[in-house]
Amino acid sequence: MLQFVLTILLIVPIVIESAGQWSYDSIKTWGRGNRYCAGHSQSPIDLRYNVSTYDNRLKKIVLEEQRTWGTPEFLNNGHTVQLDLKKRYVLKNLAPGSEEYSVEQLHFHWGHSADNTNGSEHLFEGQSYPLEMHIVTYSKWYANIRDAMTNTRALAVVGVFFELTEKPNPSFQPLIEALAKIQNEGYQAEVSDLFDLKELLGDKRMERYYRYDGSLTTPPCYESVLWTVLVDPLKISMDQLNAFRGLHDFKTKLMANTYRPVRPLGTRKLFRSFPTEDIQEGIKLRMTTELNNGQNLKNNMQLIAILTCLLMVVVL
Ligand SMILES: *[C@@H]1O[C@H](CO)[C@@H](O)[C@H](O)[C@H]1NC(C)=O
Ligand SMILES: *[C@@H]1O[C@H](CO)[C@@H](O)[C@H](O)[C@H]1NC(C)=O
Repeated sequence: MLQFVLTILLIVPIVIESAGQWSYDSIKTWGRGNRYCAGHSQSPIDLRYNVSTYDNRLKKIVLEEQRTWGTPEFLNNGHTVQLDLKKRYVLKNLAPGSEEYSVEQLHFHWGHSADNTNGSEHLFEGQSYPLEMHIVTYSKWYANIRDAMTNTRALAVVGVFFELTEKPNPSFQPLIEALAKIQNEGYQAEVSDLFDLKELLGDKRMERYYRYDGSLTTPPCYESVLWTVLVDPLKISMDQLNAFRGLHDFKTKLMANTYRPVRPLGTRKLFRSFPTEDIQEGIKLRMTTELNNGQNLKNNMQLIAILTCLLMVVVL
């Protein structure tokens, strides 16, 4: 039986390279200065149920808070906005028998204001979401993220999609408010301590995910990342999404289309933590909302017919 194997590793040495200056305007040339960007185990990918394998040993991932004091800093680094979470949380239970991973930071990828479709890096059944959050962690076997970065599976990143809804997401609002203060590169702002990553994600969401071996999605594209992408998206309103789309990058242009297109899965295996029935339910739910609306109408018509009959009986 195919299973996700954490303990048997092919250790491939990664040579440290300087990412230099790079931009989302020239993704096609990333491979020139950074050989790993042209590699065969790159991220993001299209997450397809049909090519994935269920591994019943992949259990719910636990995000554990280590300390609650201190205010996290939100930085505009010219490529994205990044929330520093050093020493705040650890991830447990990433894989059977795996060590803990320390959360280092989280950051975002999005599209632009005239496009509510594209923006996420990973695709779900070929579809994109308008925003994707990456929670970047490193194995506790390493002293810091720099040491970990060039070792296979020494980094673990959790990707979370966002879908547009009418109502703003209150758990996300402290980050949105801080965005107004970091419009330009190099700006940094404190995020209100009302921001609670555990609350934002919710416990249940950590159960259903895809798992594969991949890379950093920006130069130098090191192939050192154990990827987890949650199936169930978070919610965000249009106003909240627009707060990202108004940020400025290192060229002082609007920060737009900060996502890398999907790379081929190639010979890699894509695993999932959930059995068949769950996802089919999810896909069915998404696709049949309109059908259900139709069904409701039909039910209402039947009710009206019955009431009419009753009324006639009473009158007669
Ligand atoms: C999976 O593959 C089967 C057969 O190849 C196809 O009928 C089905 O629509 C696919 N499902 C999805 C969700 O792509
Ligand atoms: C999303 O991206 C695709 C591929 O680049 C493009 O063809 C499409 O027009 C984009 N969608 C919107 C709404 O801009």
